[in-house]
Amino acid sequence: MEKLKVGIVGCTGMVGQRFITLLAEHPWFDITVLAASARSANKSYEEALGGRWALDTKAPEKVLKMTVLDSEADFQKIVDSVDFIFCAVNMKKDEIKALEEKFAKAECPVVSNNSAHRFTPDVPMIIPELNDSHCEIIDSQRKRLGTKRGFIAVKSNCSLQSYVPALWPLDKKYGLTKALACTYQAISGAGKTFESWPEMVDNVIPYIGGEEEKSEKEPLKIWGKVENGEIVPATEPAITAQCIRVPVTNGHLAAVFASFEKKVDLEEAISVIESFKGAPQELELPSAPKQFVHYFREDNRPQINSERNLEKGMAVSVGRLRPDSQYDLKFVCLSHNTLRGAAGGAVLLAELLTAKGYITKK
Ligand SMILES: NC(=O)c1ccc[n+]([C@@H]2O[C@H](COP(=O)([O-])OP(=O)(O)OC[C@H]3O[C@@H](n4cnc5c(N)ncnc54)[C@H](OP(=O)(O)O)[C@@H]3O)[C@@H](O)[C@H]2O)c1
Repeated sequence: MEKLKVGIVGCTGMVGQRFITLLAEHPWFDITVLAASARSANKSYEEALGGRWALDTKAPEKVLKMTVLDSEADFQKIVDSVDFIFCAVNMKKDEIKALEEKFAKAECPVVSNNSAHRFTPDVPMIIPELNDSHCEIIDSQRKRLGTKRGFIAVKSNCSLQSYVPALWPLDKKYGLTKALACTYQAISGAGKTFESWPEMVDNVIPYIGGEEEKSEKEPLKIWGKVENGEIVPATEPAITAQCIRVPVTNGHLAAVFASFEKKVDLEEAISVIESFKGAPQELELPSAPKQFVHYFREDNRPQINSERNLEKGMAVSVGRLRPDSQYDLKFVCLSHNTLRGAAGGAVLLAELLTAKGYITKK
């Protein structure tokens, strides 16, 4: 298949950098445009970064030499040069909404990491293994936007990428009624490193603005149903969350408590988690982990250092599944926040949308 041309809007940021490394050798997608704010525009990618590269692996030479475009001033040039864009920008919510809708209306599909459109009723918010069926809402969205190709699809917040994938198969088997999640979130989730956020060294901050609301509300849209041209969020399971920032570079961990309608057998629950497969595994998408959720039997796992990069950072790790005195079960889970939780999750979503025929060559 001829590769699809892709633009990365927000290319200099923490998530943008991950897109660069994930797409450098991608079998289906080819980076043809890099875009960011006017601050970075007309500079080479290397100059625009100005020392902000935060990843262990080096940026590809070809990309370092590319000229960064201004997502506003060079809008038409971007649209004309790509088949679709990834968008991960740090702007005001209403500005992001307007920018993403402008791209979609210009017939350029948008796969977004931003939260701005997550609750637009006809914008699907997809974890590809869980609710790939929500792609069908794109037909209604295109009707509203008056487009043939253009649409917006979003991925959910990074905080819930560990516990929702673990709870989903358990819900299918036992009927999840309620869950409590305490998340321990890495500083890259705020687009930061220890250099740019020295206050985080040897520190814990018990507040991440807006994160608890997202962690509680977004799962209900993922559990929602497509009805009359909208995704109607589910009303249960009831989820409550506390989100804490911890001094870790990458990897969000969650301690989870959950109750179910049916009695849970622990060994069976582990095998339900381990054997769970979704559309990405069935379609053998290039970025899909072979096994979506891995279970670790050792008491001291999953750990950030040993598990965050499991299956190229696209798999979720679970451990310490055991009975609880107040809920039915408790466990710990982990996912890489800028891979599965951000750029990697968005690349997998774009692969799903391509495999289902929603993203095509112009
Ligand atoms: N970090 C994570 O783990 C994570 C996870 C899930 C979702 N997200 C979401 O992804 C988005 C980006 O996060 P991040 O951590 O990558 O942020 P970041 O490191 O602060 O990077 C922000 C990017 O936005 C660009 N930008 C800022 N103003 C712009 C404008 N007016 N027009 C075009 N581009 C503009 C910046 O370009 P300049 O360099 O030119 O300023 C930069 O490329 C956010 O919406 C965030 O909530 C992040």
